[in-house]
Amino acid sequence: METLQPKPSFSESDLETILVSKEQIDQRIKSLASEISTQFADEDLTVVCVLSGALVFTADLIRKLNVPTRLDCIRADSYGNATESSSPPRIASALKTDIAGKNVLVVDDILDTGNTLSAIVDHLEEAKPASLKTCVLLDKKERRQVDIQADFSGFDIPNAFVVGYGLDFAEHYRHLPCIGSLWPEFQILR
Ligand code: IMP
Ligand code: MG
Repeated sequence: METLQPKPSFSESDLETILVSKEQIDQRIKSLASEISTQFADEDLTVVCVLSGALVFTADLIRKLNVPTRLDCIRADSYGNATESSSPPRIASALKTDIAGKNVLVVDDILDTGNTLSAIVDHLEEAKPASLKTCVLLDKKERRQVDIQADFSGFDIPNAFVVGYGLDFAEHYRHLPCIGSLWPEFQILR
């Protein structure tokens, strides 16, 4: 007999728990932006967004900064369509701008094992920026395999696979305004 699989709606109702609400994200981004603006006062900044996960976070963050800001993007492929990373990540698309002598802030969605961010930092260091700092919205400290800490970090979260606000499961859920974990029955690739 065929067993009926519940259908995902790819909306907030597929979430079992909301870990970070839209309001919490908005508030934290304001304070992160003010910390970053203070640190880079009177300098200009090149923000490097790590696609695709950090797209939503970066878009909100840069609009709250009050320092002159350039924007570039980089892509690292680490997860494919699974919920566990297959190391090592590959730099899949290079920067458009020259960051030599520039103050660079790399923005990523989440610091998990640390493999992705440390590969990106190593890659960007080769271009000889004047300074290189990192900013992540979420930090899963328990999962770290590489010794790396973000210079600016939004929220520490427990070891759970989360989606929303840029974070995906198989490219779904990036558009959700909050961050949460999926009901187990929706963590299945279809
Ligand atoms: P790391 O290399 O293990 O630190 O993984 C970092 C990348 O994996 C992030 O940029 C995300 O794209 C992805 N990732 C890690 N944890 C999660 C999660 O809980 N949900 C969705 N994506 C995640
Ligand atoms: Mg990512």
